Amino acid sequence: MRAAAKPLVECTGLMKTYAAGGFAAPRGTHVAAVGGINLAVAPGETLALVGESGCGKSTTGRLLLGLEPPSSGSVKFDWADLQALGERGLRALRKRMQIVFQDPYGSLNPRFSVRRTLAEPLRIHLKLSGSGLEKRIRELLESVGLESAHAGRYPHEFSGGQRQRIAIARAISVEPDFVVADEPVSALDISIQGQILRLLMELRRRLAMAMLFISHDLAVVRQVSDRVAVMYRGRLVELAATERIFEHPAHPYTRLLLESVLRPEPWRGGPDASVRAQTGGHAGLSMPAGCAFSARCPLAGSNCLDGSPPLREIYPGHYCACREAAATTNSI
Ligand SMILES: Nc1ncnc2c1ncn2[C@@H]1O[C@H](COP(=O)(O)OP(=O)(O)OP(=O)(O)O)[C@@H](O)[C@H]1O
Ligand SMILES: [Mg+2]
Repeated sequence: MRAAAKPLVECTGLMKTYAAGGFAAPRGTHVAAVGGINLAVAPGETLALVGESGCGKSTTGRLLLGLEPPSSGSVKFDWADLQALGERGLRALRKRMQIVFQDPYGSLNPRFSVRRTLAEPLRIHLKLSGSGLEKRIRELLESVGLESAHAGRYPHEFSGGQRQRIAIARAISVEPDFVVADEPVSALDISIQGQILRLLMELRRRLAMAMLFISHDLAVVRQVSDRVAVMYRGRLVELAATERIFEHPAHPYTRLLLESVLRPEPWRGGPDASVRAQTGGHAGLSMPAGCAFSARCPLAGSNCLDGSPPLREIYPGHYCACREAAATTNSI
């Protein structure tokens, strides 16, 4: 799957399995958290990764950053194969790839002052020290809307939104080319979410960073992303430009996701809830032989049991992994 421009980050056949835990799992069985995906992010692009809880979004993000090795497949960052780089090479690339986590409480070391949190990457990657370091810390705090006088404070002295600003300052401190934002606002109060999103998007524009924006919230995704990748049980099922996905969703799972957002009373439980209840969001122990979504799919036919459907281009730049949808979607 190619991004329009030369990709900055690209993965091929990316797969990650974990040893399965819990009573239901016989010894030695594995969960395919990511089941073989191809994806490319162009420089400066924001690609959203959406899908229900447990479908493999965070694992994909960690693999793209080389925070853990894939079970198979490869990740290339600016043409460098992360697996081939080794620890040292990977450490050198760290400066160009950063992550903002969902939880602003867990992601900051409570024993580190803001100054120390921000100083660490600046010392390691930019070799700053003394007054140069102090100046950069001040600039960073101001660029995320915090007072530079607060550099000596500790995480517990800040609100959730302020902590997320600190985490964002840490991520952008080294002016990375690529940031994985893993549900960056979902742990925050609704009233704060907009501010943090606007900050993130403004910084992304200013620093021309590419971003993998992981989210459950399709309304937010529509506002911030250039393209959207939809994931279901470890696989990509649809990928297209944002407006295309929202205007012409092709995969039955994407349609279900969009319907559940548009439904006026989502708490009544709709298709999304029943999908989760019946199949589990995660790439479970018993992957069906065919399309993982077939058990719940209104379009399912005998075709669907014949191996996992590959992503196919059904319209320029619009890819869908559904034989039935590909057959019925005209190029509107
Ligand atoms: N370190 C791990 N060890 C074992 N299993 C794991 C590990 N990390 C993830 N998994 C499993 O892999 C699957 C995908 O998890 P992942 O966290 O990537 O999903 P997600 O889409 O980010 O979910 P959420 O929306 O809830 O954050 C889940 O079944 C999860 O339990
Ligand atoms: Mg996650």
